Amino acid sequence: MQQLSSILDRFAEPETLKMAKLGRELRAKGIDVIDLSLGEPDFDTPQHIKDAAKKAIDDNWSHYTPVPGFLDLREAICTKFKRDNNLDYKPENIVASTGAKQSLANVVLALVDEGDEVVIPTPYWVTYSELVKIARGKVVQVGTTMESQFKITPSQLEAVINNKTKVFLFSSPCNPSGAVYSKDELEALAAIFRKHPNIYIISDEIYEYINFVGKHESIAQFDDLKDRVIIVNGLSKGFAMTGWRLGYIAAHANIAKACEKLQGQFTSGTNSIAQKAAVVALTTDLKPSFEMVKEFTRRREITMGLVKQIPGLKCFEPQGAFYIFPDVSHYFGRSHGQMVIQNSADFSMYLLNTAHVSSVMGDAFGDPKCVRFSFANSAENIQKAWARIKEALAKLS
Ligand SMILES: Cc1ncc(COP(=O)(O)O)c(C=O)c1O
Repeated sequence: MQQLSSILDRFAEPETLKMAKLGRELRAKGIDVIDLSLGEPDFDTPQHIKDAAKKAIDDNWSHYTPVPGFLDLREAICTKFKRDNNLDYKPENIVASTGAKQSLANVVLALVDEGDEVVIPTPYWVTYSELVKIARGKVVQVGTTMESQFKITPSQLEAVINNKTKVFLFSSPCNPSGAVYSKDELEALAAIFRKHPNIYIISDEIYEYINFVGKHESIAQFDDLKDRVIIVNGLSKGFAMTGWRLGYIAAHANIAKACEKLQGQFTSGTNSIAQKAAVVALTTDLKPSFEMVKEFTRRREITMGLVKQIPGLKCFEPQGAFYIFPDVSHYFGRSHGQMVIQNSADFSMYLLNTAHVSSVMGDAFGDPKCVRFSFANSAENIQKAWARIKEALAKLS
């Protein structure tokens, strides 16, 4: 066979998807695997959103759509930004895409050239570094710690900025750490960006609603920075619509146009039915979303209570999103039978094979000491999973 293109050697497959696949394979063999590797709400999409989609089908919204999305969708997204974030955007600032993942890909490809540096606080969502590599940019990881609540400090940021720095890319609430930046913390980072007017800021806010500590704050609220902030958001997490594939950005019109140009060649406008349903999701009652958050809050408490009972796991209480990201390095060097735990990948595999619980190794997020466990699973499964994990870890010596 002819050789495949070199682009494939530049980036890795998402570990999150790999773990989900391994879990499915074990389940196919009849093993009862509890999935804590999940990156999606386990709830169904709220009924009024499903009804809007059914109506869109009956109304024959079945044709190609404008590349950046229907005008009514982009208006609805602007309404959402005003309502939730007090931010003023116009439809020309908005591009809807096939998931926030595509939004991120568009933005990274629109901004990053070969050799450009992209500063990413670690731990970070798996896809960020790989998109930068696809664009031939250079990933500059800045390590955060549990002690700093997994947040980058202004001095850490300032220390890595140089004349090649093009983009700062982060999420708040953060997947996987659960860190949520307060207004004061964002203001402190904004003070650094003011000194460096050529840096763009990609702010991934997809977990906006899943916040356990207070009001969501966006770095786009600082007027003098707003033109170089690109907000990425979407319906996957807040509305339990992962399979619908609808994400969006808000950005300066020039950046939005660049994303539209890229998307025009890759996918064109995203799914028409999902767009029509999204208009309803974004402009009507958020009660179903906040009911889900209430349940995530309960499960976070259950999870934290169970994790605290396990010796050696150091865990930051997540402020948002639906993951815990404990430091598991206490177990490195320990073994059970043939299995020696040397790193977070071994730890994850050990739990999958021994406790039949799937998780995602921290290496995938740039933090090799930690492992990510989701609490987007039923309280019953969470309880069962952590009992099994406790038992499996007790066997290591
Ligand atoms: C931080 C973060 N950003 C973006 C995405 C992508 O979401 P979407 O389903 O809209 O592509 C995810 C999904 O896991 C995520 O965790």
